[in-house]
Amino acid sequence: MAQRDLYLGLMSGTSMDGLDIALVEFTDDMPELVSHQQFELPDPLQEKLHNLCEEQPNELHRWGELDREFAIFCADCVLAFLNRRNLSATAITAIGSHGQTVRHQPDGDFAYTLQLGDPNTLAALTGIAVVADFRRKDIALGGQGAPLVPAFHHAVFSSLKESRVILNLGGIANITWLPGTPTGVTGFDTGPANTLMDRWFKACHPDHADDFDRHGAFAAHGEVKHEVLELLLEDPYFSRPPPKSTGRDVFNLDWLQERIGDLDNYSRADIQATLVAFTARTVADAIQQWLPEQPDTIFVCGGGAYNPILMSALKAALPSTQWHATSVLGVAPQHVEAMAFAWLAYSYIHRKPGNLPAVTGASRPTILGGLFLP
Ligand SMILES: Nc1ncnc2c1ncn2[C@@H]1O[C@H](COP(=O)(O)OP(=O)(O)O)[C@@H](O)[C@H]1O
Ligand SMILES: [Mg+2]
Repeated sequence: MAQRDLYLGLMSGTSMDGLDIALVEFTDDMPELVSHQQFELPDPLQEKLHNLCEEQPNELHRWGELDREFAIFCADCVLAFLNRRNLSATAITAIGSHGQTVRHQPDGDFAYTLQLGDPNTLAALTGIAVVADFRRKDIALGGQGAPLVPAFHHAVFSSLKESRVILNLGGIANITWLPGTPTGVTGFDTGPANTLMDRWFKACHPDHADDFDRHGAFAAHGEVKHEVLELLLEDPYFSRPPPKSTGRDVFNLDWLQERIGDLDNYSRADIQATLVAFTARTVADAIQQWLPEQPDTIFVCGGGAYNPILMSALKAALPSTQWHATSVLGVAPQHVEAMAFAWLAYSYIHRKPGNLPAVTGASRPTILGGLFLP
């Protein structure tokens, strides 16, 4: 029997809710998810990563240490993942490791994006080849370096029977437009999905066991403040045409404070409810404003798919479209992005482009990432 062609995809997004690992098998270039596991980030590591996302003293030293600490954490998770499944390192062709984004500045003369999690360390400690540094080649070609998942969405979720949008509700929200024809795929970041909600929830509940508003319970106690919503919508990001991408560098609690002014004028739950409405509204507006037509169906992935308050707000904002989770297409919402990075590693190994210039704005399609041997 031919050896199975297995890859691991590692993803820890801007939410920093955990490291997702996907084990993916490839047959004739088509990926199939074999299994998935999420590993929680230890609190001290999570706190250091959150801190490095903000301007603070001594960043270079802290970057250097965290680059290795996060890589060692990833390696421990990979070894535990394989051990639990009785798999040896030799069974895996390569790991696709996204790394942890701590800065994303895709515009300006010297645009850059920074992901940490040293791939040399990950390769050395696991004994597996690592493909990493996926975003910077696209930036080198004048692109945004993001979002990168649309090429994967196109490969696995497109249909010639209907037009689709794949909506990824991570820390940031991104959409992929799959027009129902072989060409014409586009996509971009619509703005924040969970990041503001998470940060606001945590600021209001510093000692809560959860880092986010589970099932939208806190938001459900509040009322949307429309005058606040309008202030948030005035940010120029939303009127800017794609290609565009964004991150916590822009959408954070300082931004919220600047936009709203005195946050104490409103109840905390009302702000939470308004942030839910803000995500729903910016996603709906982006689809109506920047896509050639409304999709027949929207498939949702990312952690936001598990927030019923957010999902109701989205459905209310775009009622004439059918809504499903990506599970209907065979991949659970929380598994999609890690699977995409296994696919990007496979694409690198097979010398296939991983970016879509129509999405990122890069001058041409290109092979993404670099290879780090154990
Ligand atoms: N049960 C839930 N209820 C509400 N929100 C949830 C739930 N599960 C996940 N989330 C949200 O999804 C986020 C994680 O989504 P994820 O797709 O992993 O984002 P990222 O790619 O940024 O890590 C959490 O921070 C939280 O905001
Ligand atoms: Mg996550």
